[in-house]
Amino acid sequence: MNKKSKNILEKDKQYVWHPYTQMKDYESSFPLLIKKAKGIKIFDAAGKWYYDIISSWWCNILGHNISVVNKALKKQIHLFEHVLFAGTTNEPATRLAEKLVSITHPNLTKVFYSDNGSTAVEVALKASYQYWQNKNKKKKQKFISLDYGYHGDTIGTMSLSGVEKFNSIFKKLFFKTYSIPSPYCYRCPMNKKYPSCKFACLKPLDTLLATKHKEIAAIIMEPMIHGAGGMIVFPKGYLDALYKIVQKYDIHIILDEVAVGFGRTGKMFAYEYSDLKPDFLCLSKALTNGTMPFAATLTSEEVYSAFYDDYEKGKTFYHGHTFTGNPLASAVALSVVNTITKKKLIKKSQKIIHYIDSKLNLFEQSSAFKIIGDIRHLGFVVAVEIVKNKKTKKPFDSKLRFEFKTFLEGLNHNLIMRPIGNVFYLYLPITVTKKEIDNIFSKFILTLEKSYEKNLS
Ligand SMILES: Cc1ncc(COP(=O)(O)O)c(C=O)c1O
Repeated sequence: MNKKSKNILEKDKQYVWHPYTQMKDYESSFPLLIKKAKGIKIFDAAGKWYYDIISSWWCNILGHNISVVNKALKKQIHLFEHVLFAGTTNEPATRLAEKLVSITHPNLTKVFYSDNGSTAVEVALKASYQYWQNKNKKKKQKFISLDYGYHGDTIGTMSLSGVEKFNSIFKKLFFKTYSIPSPYCYRCPMNKKYPSCKFACLKPLDTLLATKHKEIAAIIMEPMIHGAGGMIVFPKGYLDALYKIVQKYDIHIILDEVAVGFGRTGKMFAYEYSDLKPDFLCLSKALTNGTMPFAATLTSEEVYSAFYDDYEKGKTFYHGHTFTGNPLASAVALSVVNTITKKKLIKKSQKIIHYIDSKLNLFEQSSAFKIIGDIRHLGFVVAVEIVKNKKTKKPFDSKLRFEFKTFLEGLNHNLIMRPIGNVFYLYLPITVTKKEIDNIFSKFILTLEKSYEKNLS
């Protein structure tokens, strides 16, 4: 590594506070100074390359550094970078809204922009809340969420997230919500087995709505995969069973597809695995392929019209973020979404998903299988849950820091990993090739084996 790079790393340790990072670990580690990224590979200043097997926190859907996306950004930057979005509009944001409405559920007809996943969810929460106020159903103020769900790091979204490790310290700041069990079949909250359970985990929702629906504004969920909660893949039929219950009541359904939207699960949107009709759809991350911070919250004509009235009636939605409708981000997002649809990437990706499926038995052949309690797969997401005892499903003591040590081991095998507790996963772009999958699987399994040998056996 040259002198300039070393100097940047020193300055980084001196001035920067990194997210989700114990800075004491960081200070004594050797962080990668990223110089370049292309496709699924990241290159650092020390001359090493890595597979970005987590799509840079679930953003890259097409891989890094896509020329058509870069071109869209350059084209717009020569025109203008940002103008406030209240009282003005711009072509990229308008065209993107039209495109998003055309590819999402027919119930969704309006687009509200913001700039990250948490704000996309906040918009949905506030709009749902105010909808009921505008409709004079003043008691409808509460939200339902799922255990192990994750919706962001703002106070509002944390109030609805079920990931204890991240949120417990802030609990006193949260507003009161209702939570229901997650369809976490490996650790079934009802102690039953799928499918004979007949979705017993939905019984609490049924009971809750039967008694409290008059005070419920909405239910929020990540459809098909609880990401930060541990890459928990929902069992087939769960969303429809949930919808059957929710449909009986007058409440909104907010779908948080910030992490799974745009093909990650094998469908353009994860709700397509069901007949569920969303009232809100929250999108970010892959929306711009990670190129720009951006987000969109889609909603229905019914919701929109509850805010549409004479000014004096006081129904305006007083919500906005500085970068709402940013033309650079909109132009980028439009090129990403157009690339996915015009190239029919979701359809083409089905073969690759089958290929990923065919590789799963490699886990069983690995020496690390002794500690693999569960293997989960949907679309481009593959996860293994590591346990100390496969019978009791008891996890290893977190003080052993297997998670962090395995991340370090991964670096030795050209992998950038981001384990979630005892869950190790792949979160691949839909453009990944068979050859890359072969390499990634062998490196991923080797990393688990080596880390197990060195740290646990
Ligand atoms: C499902 C889901 N919702 C919301 C968020 C929050 O997004 P952001 O980190 O951009 O605020 C995330 C982030 O990982 C997410 O996975």
